[in-house]
Amino acid sequence: MTMKLIKLFLSLRIFALSFFLLASHFFYFPIVFVDANPTLDGVIQKDEYTQSKTYDNNNFELHWRVESPNFFMAIRAKTKGWVSVGFSPTVMMKDADMIIGWVESNNEVKIFDAFSTGDMGPHPPDENLGGNNDIIAFGGTESGEWTTLEFQRKLDTGDKYDKVFPSSGNIKIIVAYGSRDEFASMHRFRATDSITVEAAKVEKKYKEISAMEAKQLYDSDYTLMILDVSSAWKNGHLPGAVNIEFNQLTQNLGKFNKERPILVYCHGDAPAIFAADLLSKNGFSAVYRLLGNYGAWTREGFPVEKYKEVTKLKFQIGNEQYWLDETLKTMDTRPVILEGRTMLPIRFLAEALGARVGWEANLQQVSIYLQFIEVKLQIGNAMAVVNGKNTAIDPSNEKVKPIVVPPGRTLLPLRFVAESLQCKVDWNPAQQEVLITYAP
Ligand code: HEM
Repeated sequence: MTMKLIKLFLSLRIFALSFFLLASHFFYFPIVFVDANPTLDGVIQKDEYTQSKTYDNNNFELHWRVESPNFFMAIRAKTKGWVSVGFSPTVMMKDADMIIGWVESNNEVKIFDAFSTGDMGPHPPDENLGGNNDIIAFGGTESGEWTTLEFQRKLDTGDKYDKVFPSSGNIKIIVAYGSRDEFASMHRFRATDSITVEAAKVEKKYKEISAMEAKQLYDSDYTLMILDVSSAWKNGHLPGAVNIEFNQLTQNLGKFNKERPILVYCHGDAPAIFAADLLSKNGFSAVYRLLGNYGAWTREGFPVEKYKEVTKLKFQIGNEQYWLDETLKTMDTRPVILEGRTMLPIRFLAEALGARVGWEANLQQVSIYLQFIEVKLQIGNAMAVVNGKNTAIDPSNEKVKPIVVPPGRTLLPLRFVAESLQCKVDWNPAQQEVLITYAP
């Protein structure tokens, strides 16, 4: 559990600190994602480390990776005894900041954060000198003739018995291994060298955009999904934003249509960065993160929505006036009955619910998006598509279908659309009224 928290924290830091290459407008380029932290299990996997060197005719390997503020290293040697690395000695072994460890016959890993006080040792653990053990995590294996140790520490531990590593630059090192699982047994091999460390280039697969760019994207693309990962969604959110708190996102990924572009934000950076990263790693085609989050959007004076428990609409056949909650409104059209079904330009319903409506002229198709619901209807087609599933508009009458009436108005079957958007529909035959209730 602790390791998981450390990893979550680290990956948040990595994404917060790393830079982004994309500058193009609203075009989205996928970038190869390099997974960040090595798994410290004593097995060196391909791509876990970014740099490596070998010594002693390949009988000793050193692998390392910088993920500021952390440093990861693997030592692998052809021995059943101890393996070690030391950083920045002054003379021979003296003042080297050392890591020494081995794997016991019961597979227990022993590892020490040590310091060499003399030219030829001794190298007591930092703790014996009044310092700390600054190994954050480690793992190790002994397999066949080989011993592997992996460890993680901070580039700067703050301990005077540890050297401060640069996130980019050179470090003088000593390496050695011995034949026995014993802290004070002499080396079979030792060498002095220097290594170069450089920060791993972790690239984000999502694009960060300003509030202004987000608004343009919202205006130009009705398929855009907006995800608010905060706990404050009810108090105010971007128009049409769905709400899943960031810590619930993993188990709710199935609700999303990954083909749609998605804009994610929160009220602070960390949850939004986590969410944008998660979405982009899970095959979402285009992920955008709103820089400055909700605050940046409201500061621009862009429209926001508040959660409303219930919305009620009342339409009457032949009447251009309709009720939206307690307000009487007027349309520039009148609901009509065709094939026994009420037909209406869907805008009046959609806008009242906060849904977005798109029109694709070449397909003669209307798309309606409300929260996680997507409804697509085509002129002259008795079948609709609801969340990707073909659905009959009226199973009892295939003549009920979207139509265009002069001078080019699209009329949609009101009950089907409203019910697809999870509204309750009541028909009052005496008054010829349709009452629509939406309680999300
Ligand atoms: C375990 C107890 C250790 C003892 C008793 C010990 C002892 C010595 C002695 C006597 C020398 C000088 C002789 C020679 O060059 O071989 C030496 C050199 C050296 N030791 Fe150790 N050592 C120990 C552990 C380590 C460890 C853990 C490292 C880790 C990297 C290390 C790295 C080196 C290196 C690189 C040299 C050569 C330094 C130079 O010539 O500039 N030793 N050690």
